[in-house]
Amino acid sequence: MTKQDRILAIDQGTTSTRSIVFDNRAHSLSVARREFEQFYPEPGWVEHDAEQIWRDVVQTAREAIEQAGSPERIAGIGITNQRETVVIWERDTGRPVYKAIVWQDRRTSALCQKMKADGIEETVRAKTGLLLDPYFSATKFAWILDNAPGARDAAEAGKLACGTIDSFLLWRLTGGRVHATDITNACRTLLFDIHKQDWDEELLRLFRIPRAILPEVRDNSTIFGETDASLFGRPIPIGGMAGDQQAAVVGQACFEEGMAKSTYGTGCFMLLNTGTKPVMSQNRMLTTVAYRMRGQTNYALEGSIFVAGAAIKWLRDGLHLITHASQTDDMATRIPDSHGVFMVPAFVGLGAPHWDPDARGLICGLTLGSTSAHIARAALESVAFQTYDLAHAMREDGGAQARRLRIDGGMAANDWFCQFLSDMLQAEVQRPRDLETTAQGAAFLAGLATGVWNDLSEVAATWSEDRVFRPQMEANQRRTMLNGWADAVRRTLTPQV
Ligand code: G3P
Repeated sequence: MTKQDRILAIDQGTTSTRSIVFDNRAHSLSVARREFEQFYPEPGWVEHDAEQIWRDVVQTAREAIEQAGSPERIAGIGITNQRETVVIWERDTGRPVYKAIVWQDRRTSALCQKMKADGIEETVRAKTGLLLDPYFSATKFAWILDNAPGARDAAEAGKLACGTIDSFLLWRLTGGRVHATDITNACRTLLFDIHKQDWDEELLRLFRIPRAILPEVRDNSTIFGETDASLFGRPIPIGGMAGDQQAAVVGQACFEEGMAKSTYGTGCFMLLNTGTKPVMSQNRMLTTVAYRMRGQTNYALEGSIFVAGAAIKWLRDGLHLITHASQTDDMATRIPDSHGVFMVPAFVGLGAPHWDPDARGLICGLTLGSTSAHIARAALESVAFQTYDLAHAMREDGGAQARRLRIDGGMAANDWFCQFLSDMLQAEVQRPRDLETTAQGAAFLAGLATGVWNDLSEVAATWSEDRVFRPQMEANQRRTMLNGWADAVRRTLTPQV
């Protein structure tokens, strides 16, 4: 019988969908990728077409399986996804009743403000570890139920199902047989009590979400179901699911308390493993589940920055300053500094630690001597400054300051950025050989459930370093830059916050 020692990881991100086949040493054998359309129907609104996402998942998965050869060697599938983005669909047809509302979408900002004014935030925070911000899923679910014709009645009648992207894909992959999610996605909805580890009746009532539409919540590494045989020639077990940032924690092998990772995708999300007890932040960091495997839950403190790679994409697609993201490395290196130019990329408000959904982006310090290189450099610097703000807040929380930070995602390929980040954090920045750690994490979760790997120590042994960056910048220079950044952020925040 053919040895089943490979995993297909599906990484459904904010701007692209990737399918990657990994072997049992966690080396990628094939990659298929599709960028997909973003819809901005009104200022601050961001939507995706869930049907497009589904088509891309199937096509990239088929391509990756075919490129890797020997499809019979696939032991299982791992799914990882952009978190908080919501879909509501009809149970009998699988058809979404509205477009997917994306985590970046701010349309429920006023509702969140009202709930804050009603004094609800503390209850929400105590139960979920999150804050009242339109970033999370609950108010988006409620918006669809209130605005898609007939949706609320159909939901009350048990005719609709809701979920984050993982859940929608699982439903489709299993031919409508499984309606489940994993705990890392559930804990981003504002409806899930991370202490009791269950949907919470009081929160469901506050956000007006009928329990009947919610998925069942499972561990990260378990057999969720099998793919419909018509999709990939035979049924394949789906053995792992996790939100992309938590999958990156697994991919970066941050299994010990005090280990931290930061992923530079569309946004940047820094997670510090705090062990088996949730740590509540005093500095507006999130408390979230890092993973639950074989009955044990590990928690994390999370700092969420909404715009990282998206700022570089904006330089390319919005300003046309560059034609390829990799040019920013060269542009930043060619000039000695950003010439006093600062960019605060609050395109969709600001996340941690400010949580100001109505803030909007700003470039300041421009003079006649400012060039495109200074703006490009300011964009890169802004991502490092924001990471510094997170690290600073986590340190204030008593969460051991991570002396080392493992980084991944597209921007981690930029050497200049990695060095600048190390300078700002005054910490070692470790870059792994494979930057697709999110997909690797999903593969590990599925591989642990299907016998490709036996335990976390085997997974950790596959992690290897490409390069480590150590702080070099002179203290005064660093202080001046951080002060300039703090000043620019102050100008960006909306007065009421
Ligand atoms: O919370 C949102 C996050 O999961 C999105 O990740 O990789 O698309 O920046 P990414």
